[in-house]
Amino acid sequence: MSDLRERLLSIMDRKHHSAWPAFTRPGLTRSQLLVHFAQEYNVYVRDFPVLLARLLGQGPPRSVRRALAENLYEEETGGLSGGVAHPELFLRMIDGLRIDRSALETATLLPEAAKYREFLDRMTGGAPWVIGAAVLTIFVEGSVHERAELAGNRSALPIEEAIDAHPMVKHYGCPREAMGLVRAHRAVESGHRKDAWQMVLDHVGEDASTEADVVVEACEAALRLWLAYRDAVCTSAGIPLAG
Ligand SMILES: [Fe+2]
Ligand SMILES: [Fe+2]
Repeated sequence: MSDLRERLLSIMDRKHHSAWPAFTRPGLTRSQLLVHFAQEYNVYVRDFPVLLARLLGQGPPRSVRRALAENLYEEETGGLSGGVAHPELFLRMIDGLRIDRSALETATLLPEAAKYREFLDRMTGGAPWVIGAAVLTIFVEGSVHERAELAGNRSALPIEEAIDAHPMVKHYGCPREAMGLVRAHRAVESGHRKDAWQMVLDHVGEDASTEADVVVEACEAALRLWLAYRDAVCTSAGIPLAG
């Protein structure tokens, strides 16, 4: 196992925010949910395909262009799953929660969210592409389950049960039909996970190069900024920070 892989996995092991369980339990008001979803939407959901396009636009090696192009195509069109773009699927879940989608579209970012977003813009906006790829496709698109995902032993309920068990369906009354994002991700996301790791690990020099250190530092910075962003969402929504 490459050292870089382990260093990045150890960052993903920490992509967990202490107050996350509050979002998986009943009891939040619509306005608390709105704070969370509006920030998520504006900080990366709406523009995730654009951020991917920036990586592709840097002209990375041919061997990774296809993976980036497929990911971009799916995120912006849903063409490999149900035919609906992922940002739009996110908004359909918002409709299902009876939250006005225009309130998301017009929300402004909290200062900590804006800082995280500026970092994503900077990392994807210029060379070397592989650093932006690590931040965007491993850190942003990945989760705390990355280690299990790579080992192929992440347990998942069958899709229909997973939708029934989703907190927005189970506790907040979102109709199952509005959960197309969960379906799309189930259909394509494990491919995105594999591609993300492969494109980064195959293109960062193994020879104790400084590039590996820079990739790790960038992902550590992403984690720090993300945790501060999640703290700010909780503070703004009046959700207590655990610990
Ligand atoms: Fe997606
Ligand atoms: Fe994806």
